[in-house]
Amino acid sequence: MVRLRRTFSKYALPAAAVVMLGCASGQGESPRHDAPDSFGFGQLATDDDIRALDIDIMPDGTGLPPGSGSVEHGQRIYAAKCASCHGPTGVEGPYDVLVGRIPNDEFPFANDRSFRSTIGNYWPYATTLYDYIYRTMPFEAPGSLATDEIYSLVAALLFMNDLVPADAVMDAETLPQVVMPSRDRFVADNRRGGPEIR
Ligand code: HEC
Repeated sequence: MVRLRRTFSKYALPAAAVVMLGCASGQGESPRHDAPDSFGFGQLATDDDIRALDIDIMPDGTGLPPGSGSVEHGQRIYAAKCASCHGPTGVEGPYDVLVGRIPNDEFPFANDRSFRSTIGNYWPYATTLYDYIYRTMPFEAPGSLATDEIYSLVAALLFMNDLVPADAVMDAETLPQVVMPSRDRFVADNRRGGPEIR
């Protein structure tokens, strides 16, 4: 997390400067013609380059790859690659608690900071699990899991949260159909640059 923030702040300043330059030249001045065609570094991104980075999965499942995974397979991978940090049943830690529901699927987080958020009590979309695990986990080797392993882990974590049955199979069709308890607990952030929330 800390490393991510650092990376962002490192690029935030140059990016802001570019935007400001862009604005300045847009205000009546003629465009600059003395910029070189090339700055002599970098290379054009190929389709393969872009595809390798284009791994985001949308809430509706757009971007989910072909493949599938079962709860049973996922539980075996979980024991081998996840339990050391998240606990044998996903509640023991030492790192983030992944499993747990709140009675009646209440959503008390705004008023009671003592509740720990989990996949089952907080995440609005099941599809985010695929995105998140592929992108970031296991913590020490992100991107190392195969497609079927990720679908299996997603199936296992949904099962551990009492959201799918033990014989569930997750794939690009079934995963977007899982409705999370907190599905309607969030509103779209449609602010347009100002602090007010519409
Ligand atoms: C070396 C320790 C470690 C291992 C192994 C590990 N994780 Fe994590 N995991 C973390 C940490 C630390 C975080 C919190 C990261 C953050 O907040 O930026 C996390 C966060 C998560 C979250 C998000 C939790 C939330 O509600 O925000 C999920 C889901 C998750 N891990 C799944 C997995 C899965 C699945 C595996 C096995 C493939 C795994 N993790 C293996 C350390 C680990």
